[in-house]
Amino acid sequence: MAEIPLQPYAYFEGQIVPSGEAKISIATHALQYGTGAFGGIRGYLDVSEESINIFRLPDHTRRLMNSSRMLRAKLKVDADSLGTVIQDLVAQNNPRSNIYIRPFIYKAGIDLTPRLNGIRDDIAIYIIAFGDYFSMDTPLRVLVSSWVRLSDNIIPSRGKITGGYINSSLAKDQAEEAGFDDAIMLNTAGKVAEGSGANLFIVRNGTLITSPITGDILEGITRRSVFMFARDSGIPVEEREIDRSELYVADEAFFCGTGAQVASIGNVDGRPVGDGARGEITKTIQDIFFACVRGQDSKYDHLLTKVPVRPS
Ligand SMILES: Cc1ncc(COP(=O)(O)O)c(C=O)c1O
Repeated sequence: MAEIPLQPYAYFEGQIVPSGEAKISIATHALQYGTGAFGGIRGYLDVSEESINIFRLPDHTRRLMNSSRMLRAKLKVDADSLGTVIQDLVAQNNPRSNIYIRPFIYKAGIDLTPRLNGIRDDIAIYIIAFGDYFSMDTPLRVLVSSWVRLSDNIIPSRGKITGGYINSSLAKDQAEEAGFDDAIMLNTAGKVAEGSGANLFIVRNGTLITSPITGDILEGITRRSVFMFARDSGIPVEEREIDRSELYVADEAFFCGTGAQVASIGNVDGRPVGDGARGEITKTIQDIFFACVRGQDSKYDHLLTKVPVRPS
């Protein structure tokens, strides 16, 4: 697979530098032990093409700071100043397309012991141009993975902890190699957790249902936004445990996340979800989401941080 080109500038060791100059030692603790945590943030080109609309930036920087607390990281930035750095970096790159912003904190020191305390931490950010991660036209075919979602007492799912993503990678490979688009993982209690990189909603009898945040899932920011969009559209939402067999009898299902956006699921384990086509409630949520992020619905402007960009 071709490597994804980075935008020209990155943030590294406290300053904005050409991306090619952002290099770390092969002995870095985070590289050896997965002792990092990351964020994934999307910026959308506004319909006016005059700004990049960063979706829920303060929520993302706050969550990254929470992940960094789990890693006992000591950083020179806080959530607000990180938000400012991200806006500066977007402005400097002046992208003319939708982007994905990847801030990450990492144990930057060199130490052979797999510990968290007492190792130098740092933060870096890169940006790529990014389109759709999943098809927005064709509902996804997904597999319930035999890989179990890691649990809070193993590696906390509510932190986006670098090493924990091996769990997602195992499930994703299994699904793709069996001809599916993605995996749904069950947690150690056997309840539905989430996809390899997205939260999950099902629809039963007109109600949106999603797993609770104590169910070994990432506390997704898109997930929280779906609650808001559903409430504003009069669609009831329930946060409760979901059984695997409910996936087989659901009327609709979709993934949501920064990468996934809102992606309809048409088939689980070879069984059609509803009639296999994108459902009405999924479409409603998808339409509101895209109108919001493109800056077409001023009601949701408070969810966007607009960074002005110039014509190239
Ligand atoms: C495992 C996992 N679950 C859920 C999500 C969705 O979270 P968010 O909506 O905050 O991007 C992600 C990231 O996108 C993820 O990696």
